Amino acid sequence: MTSPRTRRLAVLASGQGTNLRALLEAPDLGGSIVVVLSDRPDAGALAIAREHGVAAEALDAGRGRLTGTAEAAWLERLARADVDTILLAGFMRILDARFLAAYPGRILNIHPSLLPAFPGTHSIARAREHGVRVTGCTVHLVDAGVDEGPILDQTAVAVHADDTLESLTARMHSAEHALYARAVRAFLTRPFTLEGRRVTWQ
Ligand code: GRF
Repeated sequence: MTSPRTRRLAVLASGQGTNLRALLEAPDLGGSIVVVLSDRPDAGALAIAREHGVAAEALDAGRGRLTGTAEAAWLERLARADVDTILLAGFMRILDARFLAAYPGRILNIHPSLLPAFPGTHSIARAREHGVRVTGCTVHLVDAGVDEGPILDQTAVAVHADDTLESLTARMHSAEHALYARAVRAFLTRPFTLEGRRVTWQ
């Protein structure tokens, strides 16, 4: 009997890379991060990947949505790394239909709010300014919408009356780090069904 193939993961990140670090350091992710790509040569995520001995590259992403020849170069790099699952971790580009079709149902994203509340940017600040008592983080499958795909897992984070944006952001980041590793592990190791947009773990 042959053992199942180890999942080969790519992480796409634009920023400092704290979620990437949490994924790289998770004890049992259920797969191996083989490449980290960024649209920003100065992204902290690239340095974190190299620190961990993982191939890391900045690729041109053109302007706005990732399309055209830039998109083709990203897809070619991912194919060359023989990746089967893509993890977005603070990736600030929108993927279009061609990219989604290359990895159907196999692109995950983490978002710092309890979706469908506060999609888009500055979600932590917007939740705090809105006066919510509970916010949180969501890991979801990526579809053609922005922060709209089926929810794989969520975790709640209380907003304290004396929270500053900094204190809330710090708590949100720790919650994200635990959630993303847990959700990726579940996605890679546990069967689930998808009915409409409802994910049920078996
Ligand atoms: C995280 O809050 C993530 O949810 C959002 O962008 C941020 C990235 O942070 N999509 P980091 O680069 O992982 O530190």
